[in-house]
Amino acid sequence: MGKYQDFYRRSIEDRDAFWAEQAQFIHWEKAPEVICDYSNPPFVKWFKGGLTNLCYNAVDRHAAKRPDAPALIYVSTETGEEKTYSYGELQREVERMAAIYRKLGVEKGDRVLIYMPMIPQAAFAMLACVRLGAIHSVVFGGFASASLATRIDDAKPKLVVTAEAGMRNGNVIPYKHLLDEACRISQSPPEKVLIVDRGLDPNFARVEGRDLDYATLREEVGEARVPVEWVDATHPSYILYTSGTTGKPKGVQRDTGGYAVALASSMKYIFCGGEGETMFCTSDIGWVVGHGYIIYGPLLAGMATVMYEGTPLRPDPGIWWRLVEKYRINVMFSAPTAVRVLKKQDPSYMKRDLSSLKHFFLAGEPLDETTHRWIHEALGVPVIDNYWQTESGWPILALCRGVQEDLPIKYGSPGLPVYGYDLHVYREDGTECGPNEKGIVGVVPPLPPGCLSTVWGQDDRFVSTYFSLFREPLVYSTADWGIRDENGYLTILGRVDDVINVAGHRLGTREIEEAIQSNPAIAEVAVVGVRDEVKGQVPVAFAVVKDPSRIATREARRALEEEVKKTVDELLGAIARPHRVYFVQGLPKTRSGKMLRRSLQALAEGRDPGDLPTIEDPAALEMVAEAIRES
Ligand code: PRX
Repeated sequence: MGKYQDFYRRSIEDRDAFWAEQAQFIHWEKAPEVICDYSNPPFVKWFKGGLTNLCYNAVDRHAAKRPDAPALIYVSTETGEEKTYSYGELQREVERMAAIYRKLGVEKGDRVLIYMPMIPQAAFAMLACVRLGAIHSVVFGGFASASLATRIDDAKPKLVVTAEAGMRNGNVIPYKHLLDEACRISQSPPEKVLIVDRGLDPNFARVEGRDLDYATLREEVGEARVPVEWVDATHPSYILYTSGTTGKPKGVQRDTGGYAVALASSMKYIFCGGEGETMFCTSDIGWVVGHGYIIYGPLLAGMATVMYEGTPLRPDPGIWWRLVEKYRINVMFSAPTAVRVLKKQDPSYMKRDLSSLKHFFLAGEPLDETTHRWIHEALGVPVIDNYWQTESGWPILALCRGVQEDLPIKYGSPGLPVYGYDLHVYREDGTECGPNEKGIVGVVPPLPPGCLSTVWGQDDRFVSTYFSLFREPLVYSTADWGIRDENGYLTILGRVDDVINVAGHRLGTREIEEAIQSNPAIAEVAVVGVRDEVKGQVPVAFAVVKDPSRIATREARRALEEEVKKTVDELLGAIARPHRVYFVQGLPKTRSGKMLRRSLQALAEGRDPGDLPTIEDPAALEMVAEAIRES
């Protein structure tokens, strides 16, 4: 393990020299004066005094050198569109979008909320923001009005960029009315809404004076050139909301210089992708993986990036492998759920020329040994699991094969701490665990470049959420249980808190509870994550109704269950829809009123909840078990 160990050790012990070297991966209009300003723990300012621009580094510098090289390969198996933009073309489109922003009064530091399906204009919209020093907040297209409104109220965007509709599995999914509803319930709705009209929903409503048509404005700005705005390395590039233990998502704030450096270096040392090569990351721009590895990472590296609208199964389960063959994809990045879905298909779909593929990366949720082994054997290339979070912005655990090619893969483990992360596993009293002892995964600050710089507008929440695990030592808590073996390899054992992971998507059970609670029939509810063979986990709700006649018969229970699911769809989006809603007479709690979530989870998974001496009403658990049996 020698070479990587040395590299890692240098990143921790000779931190500033190490990161000064990594900073060479990007263009600096003005070189940084201080590599790491850690004078105000746990806040850190990376590359202080430096001036740079994320869009310049991702687009302009490649367009200047290789204007005809492919940059963005757009494939939609939903609409049948397929189009490649060269770096030159990408730059033109980004500048047009930036010119539209200028026309609409968007200035450096303003927020722009992007609520869009996977279409090229979403990439232009993101890149145009960072070109001007405006801060984007991309909201996953699968979220509905209440989720959207919370994010609008927190970021207070001047402008929202959207499309009238998305598509999934061949069905048109109207977006616009969800945004209209979000604006209606929001305290600080945007002044303007820019709409990319895809022609999918001819009847969508426009709000006079607020809604603007992208195609019309694009014509109007014509060939306008918009120079990049050089910003401080510490200037925020984006906000991305993520669920936590409260009902209110946190706005993870990312800087500019540190993020660009971290991503650019990760492209070489982790993802082993370089100029002229092609990357296909199957995530969505609404998630952190999409930000980093559909948009910024591959473009920073001068690669072509595939932006895919569709599912892994349509028009047939061979689609991804046909894309690998057609575009000679070198680096692929997906999530374990997708692989578990593909594993169930006819293996002949994989019989394609996959010889361009060098590595296959997976992240977002635990990768079980069986799936890891299967995909490795099916593809015949190294399959690298990597563990990280919205907060970190890039991998925390991985195998840095770009530093040392022969680092051994351990099935079921995302590998070793990535350079820059001073990672340890802690007992609950703050002492360190020994080998093979389960504990909480923590990182000793300063967090490396690329990680969140704070929670948007809430520095105190940044400190209290992430750095208050122990009084001493000061540690960033990942809120994940982990275990480290004698070779330093970690295994992640799941969350410490009430966050659940559904098909690689992170959801807060509190948010789902709040949505369900808004249904007038419901008195009280608890949501837990229950094991699922394909999705990893699914949300399951246990609800107490106000009027028992609503659940008197099995039919009545079924009808109310559907109604509750619909409430969640409308407020949060189908992604958060509970898999089941069980109606119970009471919820199991401790004598001090704490919900016994682990017991609910055990019962829903068909396990024994064990002995619970602190339970308030021992009959409650039996009633829950009965509700599950009778549903
Ligand atoms: O619990 C861990 C799990 O997903 C959480 C972070 O989710 P999110 O903020 O959506 O960011 C995903 C970025 C890849 C983590 O706290 N998680 C993520 N990757 C893995 C994982 N669990 C096990 N193995 C992984 N590779």
